[in-house]
Amino acid sequence: MKTHEIRERFTQHFVNSGHEVVPSASLILDDPNLLFVNAGMVPFKPYFLGQQTPPFSQGLATSIQKCVRTLDIEEVGITTRHNTFFQMAGNFSFGQYFKEGAISNAWNLLTKDVEDGGFGLDPERLWVTVYLDDDEAAEIWRDKIGVPEKRIQRLGMEDNYWSMGVPGPCGPCSEIYYDRGSEYGKDGGPIADDNRYMEIWNLVFMQNERGEGTGKGDFEIVGELPKKNIDTGLGIERVACLLQGVDNVYETDLLRPVIDVAEELTGATYGEKATEQDNIRFRVVADHSRTGMMLILDGVTPGNEGRGYILRRLLRRIIRSAKLLGAEGPTMERFMNTVMDTMTPSYPEIADNRERILRVAINEEKAFLKTLESGTKLFDEAVEDLRSTHRAKTQKVLSGDKAFELHDTYGFPIDLTLEMAQEAGLDVDMDGFNAAMGEQRRRAKADNQAKKHGHTDLSLYRDWVDNNPTVFTGYEELVSGANVIGLVKDGQKVNEVHEGDEVEVILDHSPLYAESGGQMADRGRISAGESLLEVNDVQKIGKKLWVHKASVTAGGLDLGMSVEASVDEKWRHGATQAHSATHLIHAALRQVLGPTAVQAGSLNRPGYLRFDFNYTEQLSQEQMEEIALITNQAIDSNMAVNTIETSLEEAKAMGAMALFGENYGNQVRVVEIGGPFSIELCGGTHVGSSAEIGPVSVLGESSVGSGARRIEAYSGMDAFRYYSKETALVEGVSRELKVQSEELPERISQLSERLKAAEKEIEGLRKAQLTARASEIIDSATEVNGIKTITLQLPDGTSGGDLRTVATDIRNRMKDTAAVIVLGAVDKGKFPFIAAATGKAVDEGVKAGDIVKRLGEYVNGRGGGKPDMAQGSGTAPEGAQRGFEAVKDLLQSR
Ligand code: ALA
Repeated sequence: MKTHEIRERFTQHFVNSGHEVVPSASLILDDPNLLFVNAGMVPFKPYFLGQQTPPFSQGLATSIQKCVRTLDIEEVGITTRHNTFFQMAGNFSFGQYFKEGAISNAWNLLTKDVEDGGFGLDPERLWVTVYLDDDEAAEIWRDKIGVPEKRIQRLGMEDNYWSMGVPGPCGPCSEIYYDRGSEYGKDGGPIADDNRYMEIWNLVFMQNERGEGTGKGDFEIVGELPKKNIDTGLGIERVACLLQGVDNVYETDLLRPVIDVAEELTGATYGEKATEQDNIRFRVVADHSRTGMMLILDGVTPGNEGRGYILRRLLRRIIRSAKLLGAEGPTMERFMNTVMDTMTPSYPEIADNRERILRVAINEEKAFLKTLESGTKLFDEAVEDLRSTHRAKTQKVLSGDKAFELHDTYGFPIDLTLEMAQEAGLDVDMDGFNAAMGEQRRRAKADNQAKKHGHTDLSLYRDWVDNNPTVFTGYEELVSGANVIGLVKDGQKVNEVHEGDEVEVILDHSPLYAESGGQMADRGRISAGESLLEVNDVQKIGKKLWVHKASVTAGGLDLGMSVEASVDEKWRHGATQAHSATHLIHAALRQVLGPTAVQAGSLNRPGYLRFDFNYTEQLSQEQMEEIALITNQAIDSNMAVNTIETSLEEAKAMGAMALFGENYGNQVRVVEIGGPFSIELCGGTHVGSSAEIGPVSVLGESSVGSGARRIEAYSGMDAFRYYSKETALVEGVSRELKVQSEELPERISQLSERLKAAEKEIEGLRKAQLTARASEIIDSATEVNGIKTITLQLPDGTSGGDLRTVATDIRNRMKDTAAVIVLGAVDKGKFPFIAAATGKAVDEGVKAGDIVKRLGEYVNGRGGGKPDMAQGSGTAPEGAQRGFEAVKDLLQSR
């Protein structure tokens, strides 16, 4: 049975029993604790925690969620069941059925005949585990389902108590395993052998909330969830492995074709005849190709930290593995194309992104193939070094620092370094390497902790989110009457607030826009009689509750009071212009760069906007001009702006662009500017027609991290002010240079040419002047003990370099005699000095080095060099004359 069909059967089974189908969320949901979505329940977290009411009519949902887990990356290809990307199929009950419903639903699908839409697994081969003291679940399995006692095993916290690994919902779980037969391992059930008994489905009885803690078992239960829920996860790839009768998850219909292509490209063979090491490499290539592709699809680009780093690491492991298998050239394009083909039936959006995915993956390959070479060179040099310095036959060890440098600077995974070291007959100082890695991890962890604790404890607001969400009135009006339903001060709920307090005010109605979708929160006021609060920020909690951060500037507020909330009109006008301008720039950008320029983020505030998008090349001046032109033309043609509330499906059908990383509800808001010109899912505020945006001045574009670029612009009056400032500047310069503005570029380039020529001329003259003094200097020579000796302080500002030019020139002219030239000068607060000796003087035993050393003692300096030329620098020019005398004494006593 093809994987795609397994997915469809799963969904159908749960649709039949009243579950609502929820499409997979992006792999990069905005959760501060998670790099990637790692379980099917992640998008449903607010429903489990009771922060939001589940929007499903029967309280039941089903999804097949894209998941990425990279903690086990080293296991890939070694075990038979670890994929870094996998599809988790789940059914969710929010306060509806509990243990019994979850267990019977799962059992039915697994054991139902294939003809009846099930998976047709042999019930005799199914084993289950339950949490240590969960007698209730064990009884259901035994009495209601009929699983014999001996195939029900009990496991502890580590295995049968599920949480996301971070604070959040959790609960005891029950897992279903399939016995693959004695050829896969020993008897005794899942507690004895988790390779032979393959886990396929985890049923979590979600009833508690966990706190901070490490690992799977070491955390505190901080409380009960408001309701008892069900979260389950069936591994689609594992079921595919069983139903397709293949040995492991890398050989299913989705990944095997990648292995085949790898065989073709590397000339190596996969399977029984190959070494286990090679087989693992094939599996790594297949697994990582898919994960890399799916991450790029969801907007990740390779980088040096966070998500980007993980993608980079995956792609580099592919390249390295292919190389070790024998690939000589690039391989990425074929791998990516193959895995895109196999995945498109389930993820049709791949079709629109093929070109972009290829470009990102191939660019990374190009970059790594380059460092792979220089890294290998560094490695070879290190080996050479070790060979020459340790002639003794002791064991040679590559230092931990080198291994770390290879890892850190050249992107060499340590196992690549280890393999290369082994080939060269070397050990690697793993303790040293681990210490360096540990230090790096410690730093990364400290960063993460800092981020995590920056987040507010949202449980404070839970009641309000559930029972009194705010009604946003700000699309229609800028002033609304409202009641104060909550007051928070210093993180505590309070009943009243007073003048001078910094507070959070929760209202039942609010016209103030809360920060979201890149648009900054409105500024405004809350007033009642004499009381006045200035609102500086508005944040949304659980997408439903408006929290106004405000300073009480007069009077105070009591809980329950009626107030008037008003938006600062000017602020809103500006933010709205900027937001609509952002949509136009986005549309213009896609016209100019094509659909592969995917939005990665944006910010708009009154007068200013920035727009980040995934694109690997720098934009040309022409492209920038075109984007600015299309944007301003769209404004000039005064396009109508419409907002439409509709379903996500409809919106997608309209061609609306959705943002990666956003978890949209079923009802979405579409903002359309000029019909097809720009259609986006957006909750922001927008102008009534495009001309209201006023001028937009595109400032420029820059790189923000690998693979992403940023455009910045001013909008409305700020764009006008920007242009008038620029115009004034140009006028000022024209006046100064006495030309028309259009002649400026030519005039400036003329001037800079002339300046360069003049500087060159001055330099020449200075040198000529110095040389012209040469004969004068030569005349000043005195005879000291048979050596013609010149000691002279040149004019201030003569640099060390100039001293050298003069000294060399004079020495040349005097080369037929035994002569010494000692010069110094004050330059930039220092006293550089030099001594030059002719060959004949050197023959007489003169050493320039000794001379500068002696002179240095008098000018508080040091110096050194060869017998015929030595230089130094001091800080006490006042000692120069005495120094020169001392030099003569030195020559005298030679
Ligand atoms: N959330 C459960 C898991 O990920 C189903 O295993």
